[in-house]
Amino acid sequence: MLLPYSLMFLMFCCVICKRDLASEQLNNYKLSNTGNSYIQTGYGVPVHSKDASLTVGPRGPMLLQDVEFLDELAHFDRERIPERVVHAKGAGAFGYFEVTNDITRYTKSTVFETIGKQTPIAVRFSTVAGESGSSDTVRDPRGFAIKFYTDHGVWDLVGNNTPIFFVRDALLFNLFIHSQKRNPVTHLKDADMFWDFISLRPETTHQVMILFSDRGIPDGFRHMHGYGSHTFKMVNASNDAVYVKFHYKTNQGIKNLFASEAANLSATDPDYAIRDLYNAIARGDFPSWTLYIQVMTFEEAESFRWNPFDVTKVWPHAEYPLIPVGKLVLNRNPLNYFAEVEQIAFSPAHMIPGLEPSPDKMLQGRLFSYGDTQRYRLGPNYLQLPVNCPFQTHVINYQRDGPQTVQHQGGSPNYYPNSFEGPDNAQGLHRPKFSVSGDVGRYNSSDEDNFSQPTLFWRYVLKSDEKDRLVDNIVSHLKNAADFIQNRTVNMFSQVDSNFGIKLDKGLMKYKNIP
Ligand code: HEM
Ligand SMILES: *[C@@H]1O[C@H](CO)[C@@H](O)[C@H](O)[C@H]1NC(C)=O
Ligand SMILES: *[C@@H]1O[C@H](CO)[C@@H](O)[C@H](O)[C@H]1NC(C)=O
Ligand SMILES: *[C@@H]1O[C@H](CO)[C@@H](O)[C@H](O)[C@H]1NC(C)=O
Ligand SMILES: *[C@@H]1O[C@H](CO)[C@@H](O)[C@H](O)[C@H]1NC(C)=O
Ligand SMILES: *[C@@H]1O[C@H](CO)[C@@H](O)[C@H](O)[C@H]1NC(C)=O
Repeated sequence: MLLPYSLMFLMFCCVICKRDLASEQLNNYKLSNTGNSYIQTGYGVPVHSKDASLTVGPRGPMLLQDVEFLDELAHFDRERIPERVVHAKGAGAFGYFEVTNDITRYTKSTVFETIGKQTPIAVRFSTVAGESGSSDTVRDPRGFAIKFYTDHGVWDLVGNNTPIFFVRDALLFNLFIHSQKRNPVTHLKDADMFWDFISLRPETTHQVMILFSDRGIPDGFRHMHGYGSHTFKMVNASNDAVYVKFHYKTNQGIKNLFASEAANLSATDPDYAIRDLYNAIARGDFPSWTLYIQVMTFEEAESFRWNPFDVTKVWPHAEYPLIPVGKLVLNRNPLNYFAEVEQIAFSPAHMIPGLEPSPDKMLQGRLFSYGDTQRYRLGPNYLQLPVNCPFQTHVINYQRDGPQTVQHQGGSPNYYPNSFEGPDNAQGLHRPKFSVSGDVGRYNSSDEDNFSQPTLFWRYVLKSDEKDRLVDNIVSHLKNAADFIQNRTVNMFSQVDSNFGIKLDKGLMKYKNIP
């Protein structure tokens, strides 16, 4: 936290030197740091010269006994961990969640137990397809992941800035992602790959229309909504369950960038969104969101006209109104980006009592993928890192050892059952039983309609100028794909509304070589 004095000084300084708070980070350190300290090796021994390596005479060679050099370079050689396979570029911040409305009749989760209760949170915003050095202002969904450090352990709500997703079967996720990434031969983004996949899987239509609409490039991370996207289950103190969706609405108002502004920013400030978030928090302009849920009973789910677990669809707000729950506030920047943001590990599998997965196939697939990649990306004890550990509760269990173990469990036994007061089953916190039945098989999601919600979006949500920009944005990308893929894609959008297809055809015509 900044002291009021240094905050004042910084604002004053920024007026004089016209630099933003992010650019003043080092100056700020200098101002707050009194007196010199000496350099030490990683093992704490004083280093008396950081100006020259240890050599035989002034021209070398070097000596293997320059252990200070070895310590330094060996650490440098290991400074990078694998970047996230998706969502590699992002910004993080910390704050709290506060309950403003009572939803205890839906869930026994202690996060929601009393109005006014605050729970510390960490949030990471991200783009999806680009590498960790890519531009912040690209057309891409934005990740919006929240970690709640609750008194029943960590709950992660790992969502996006869109209420829906491209595909509805987890088996297709990595295949879809490959089509958005680089061509393995040319190492280039490839319009054929992108639109080939999209037009062969028409369930992507809804999300692709949102992506190429004005909301496809938010103005930084503060001016967008967030969504849990999937359907989840809430269980109350009587073990009665309902299905819910999560919405977090920005209190800063929605702001988007037009494609031309975004392209300019990509050239002049590719880190635009990270900078914007850092500066807002550094100047005390704390961004906040209001959390809402939509609730559907099991009976309603049986008769809902769409599959309520299909993540390519929304639940209409008129039928399932938004119920206010609380607010999310971000009031602290990371102190060390790598430790607190690069190493943060969100997982949809991190759910606390009172919150459970729904049958959504995509969500079920995600329950495996995150912990799996994080054990690779960060190592098997990644949950012991300070930013990931459930610090509101003291973890005691039967897991032991592995690389980089830092947690110890006193003298508690490492086997169960035992006669020596090892931790016992958590009474009253069992997940209630539920029944499932059906024939085991691989079900093509072709029985689920792809176009009715996109049609509503085109006809009743988009205004005329917004439709034109949606068409322009698609055309400017689709024109690079092969003709037959363009055709198939236009056919797909024609099934949303024939006018949509006609406008796309017209737009694409400009780029055709007509003899
Ligand atoms: C079957 C579908 C999906 C799979 C297998 C999958 C897999 C992954 C993986 C492996 C990561 C990297 C995690 C890490 O290295 O820490 C990731 C990150 C992420 N995913 Fe997914 N994902 C899926 C669908 C979704 C959906 C539907 C959403 C949003 C509703 C989403 C939101 C995110 C976000 C926000 C991150 C970044 C988390 C962070 O900031 O660290 N993913 N995903
Ligand atoms: C749990 O939900 C059921 C059904 O909605 C309701 O009748 C009951 O009162 C709820 N229990 C609590 C403790 O709120
Ligand atoms: C983008 O940059 C160009 C060149 O500087 C400028 O002419 C144009 O007005 C800018 N467009 C927008 C939308 O900012
Ligand atoms: C599943 O649906 C896709 C898309 O319509 C189709 O191309 C594919 O052949 C179907 N697969 C099977 C096994 O029916
Ligand atoms: C929806 O798309 C699937 C492929 O994802 C396809 O098999 C199916 O025929 C489509 N259904 C409709 C009603 O368009
Ligand atoms: C694309 O569609 C147009 C008209 O529907 C047709 O004339 C043309 O041959 C098609 N091109 C390809 C490559 O399929």
